[in-house]
Amino acid sequence: MGDSVRATRVLARHLVPACCLAAICNDKLVGLLGVQTAQGGFFSPPVASLISEYGVVEGVYRYMGLFFLHREAVSDEWYVDGIAVDKNMRGKKVGTALLNYLEVMARENNIRKISLDVIDTNRKARSLYSRLGFVETSQSSIWPFNHIYEFPFKTVITMEKELACNREEGDGNSQRFQKDTHKTY
Ligand SMILES: CC(C)(COP(=O)(O)OP(=O)(O)OC[C@H]1O[C@@H](n2cnc3c(N)ncnc32)[C@H](O)[C@@H]1OP(=O)(O)O)[C@@H](O)C(=O)NCCC(=O)NCCS
Repeated sequence: MGDSVRATRVLARHLVPACCLAAICNDKLVGLLGVQTAQGGFFSPPVASLISEYGVVEGVYRYMGLFFLHREAVSDEWYVDGIAVDKNMRGKKVGTALLNYLEVMARENNIRKISLDVIDTNRKARSLYSRLGFVETSQSSIWPFNHIYEFPFKTVITMEKELACNREEGDGNSQRFQKDTHKTY
């Protein structure tokens, strides 16, 4: 997203707080997990906004990069758009808590599957997801886009966790994600 001033402006305008879980410790944001549901996701800036911030060439370039990494979720699936924990708080189970809580919410909402993508070089994240029951379902090479976008990885691994949920309570819907995220746990 370029330098932090411009990136912060774009993020501030287009992050959707209703599509994320936040981990807060002593009033400080220490972790964030974005979710893509069938209704929408955490960060999908329109091309016009990127063009107005970066100009036509760089705006379209960034839009294509984001589009390339974007994945739609189907109706009974939640896709983890991204997860990050403050550097000083890593290894203290904040990531585990975010993913576990997402799973609780997904089960409450009759979501059948949580999925995510992780890059081949991110061993720590991969082992965390495996420990939490995610299994690798596919691998895709991003060549030649790794060169075009200078991504420091060549392969994206999709991992999924199937959830056994109570389908009697209603049809799969992700509407409640939007309400529940405003609660504090
Ligand atoms: C991946 C990430 C979200 C995990 O969050 P976390 O709060 O550190 O996760 P947890 O503490 O629950 O678990 C991390 C694992 O690494 C171990 N660990 C130890 N020290 C660690 C450290 N300094 N940093 C990260 N992990 C550490 C933990 O013990 C744990 O191992 P385990 O699964 O065998 O128990 C976090 O490392 C991060 O923000 N990374 C940068 C962004 C990123 O890579 N996101 C993932 C994109 S797919």
